[in-house]
Parts: sequence; structure tokens; C-alpha cells
Amino acid sequence: MAYKKWKDVDQVKRYALGRYRSWDQRWIDKREKKIVQGLFTKHKIRGIILDIPVGSGRFQPLLSEFGDVLSADLGYMPVLYQKERVGICCGSINANAGQIPLQTNSVDIIFCFRLFQHMHKRKERVAILREFKRVSKSWVVVSCYLSSVLHNIHRRIIQQPSRITILKKREFKAEINEGGLKLIEMTSVVPGLHANRICLFSTKGSA
Ligand SMILES: C[S@@+](CC[C@H](N)C(=O)[O-])C[C@H]1O[C@@H](n2cnc3c(N)ncnc32)[C@H](O)[C@@H]1O
Repeated sequence: MAYKKWKDVDQVKRYALGRYRSWDQRWIDKREKKIVQGLFTKHKIRGIILDIPVGSGRFQPLLSEFGDVLSADLGYMPVLYQKERVGICCGSINANAGQIPLQTNSVDIIFCFRLFQHMHKRKERVAILREFKRVSKSWVVVSCYLSSVLHNIHRRIIQQPSRITILKKREFKAEINEGGLKLIEMTSVVPGLHANRICLFSTKGSA
């Protein structure tokens, strides 16, 4: 995965303040949080939540409404930022989503937002889904980019600043199957316009 590493905690802070500042990104951020809140409420999801990758901690306040939150990230600076500046999570660890240093069934929910579109190899994505099934007792929430006609046209016309992997629905479903997760619900953040989908999985039984 090609992802720019933050060099210090202030860089994470600047990202946290700037990333969702424009009106359209603020709107997307609001939509994503509303959908996540709705999913947790509808399915009565509560317990110990592992937020991986935590990044700038965008979801920490919302997730903490539903239980004790642990944060994890491959980068050291996001982990430090959560500990020193955000201060909501019960613990913050350095971890690769494909190899989480926690025991089997040690959390109730794994929350993984905006990582999958940066994972360009099928093998990596399936390994992560398998690892989520191992570590979470009950639930997994994952966001991923799936193709839609309008979005495909948009991406062809306007060059994107970073490489993003957009999967076909059937490709993603096959990966979920291999990962051993059961798809409960999939919601489009902006139907037809934005590729981001928010998926809820149960770790009990595959699709
Ligand atoms: C776009 S941020 C997502 C943060 C947050 N979930 C959100 O939606 O705002 C991506 C984060 O993924 C982290 N990351 C990249 N590869 C990772 C991996 N294999 N395991 C865990 N974290 C990873 C990066 O360090 C970065 O902080």
C-alpha cells in the first residue's frame, strides 16, 4: 500500500483539521458518521471496539458512545496522537491490520474505515478480513470502494490525486467469502455518486 507516513504528531493534527474542511468533504464525513451511528443503533452493537486504522481519530467520539474503544494504526504518529491529544481511547497500539497483536476473540467489534481502497492486492485484503474474523467475537464494520457507472465516468474524466482500488461488487463478495465473514448490511454513502460503501459483517458463519 502506498500511504504517506506522518512524521510528527502536529502533522496528524493538521490533517485532522484540514481533511474534511471543504463543504463536500464535510458533507461526506457527516453522511458516513450518520450511517455508522445508524448501524450500531439498529443492530444494538455495543462492547469493546477496535478502531483500526484510527488515523486522525475521526470516529473516536462516535465509537465511544457504543463502548470502550481501542485504537490501532500501522503508523506510530496516529497512535501517539490518540494517546496524547485525543485521549478518548482506552489503549492505543501500533498494529498492521493483517496481523493484529491481540488474542482470538479479544474484542466485540472491529471498525475499519477507509483502509481497503488503499490495499491494492487481493491477497492482502483477504488476509485482513480473516484477521478481523479471528480477533472480533461478533461484528466487523468495513468501508470499501465499489464501482458504480457514474463514478467510473467521473474517474475517467478527472484524474485522481492518489491510487485507489475500486472493486466490483462480485469481487468484493468473493473476498468476503474467503475471509469467512457474513455480510449483514451494505450501505452506499452517496448512492450512485460516491464509491464508498459501509459494510456490516457478522463473524458467525460465512456468507
Ligand atoms: C485514511 S486513514 C483512515 C483513518 C480513519 N479510519 C478515517 O476514516 O478517518 C488511513 C490510515 O491507515 C493506516 N494504515 C495503512 N496501512 C495500514 C495497515 N496495513 N494496518 C493498519 N493501519 C494501516 C495509515 O497509517 C493511516 O493512518
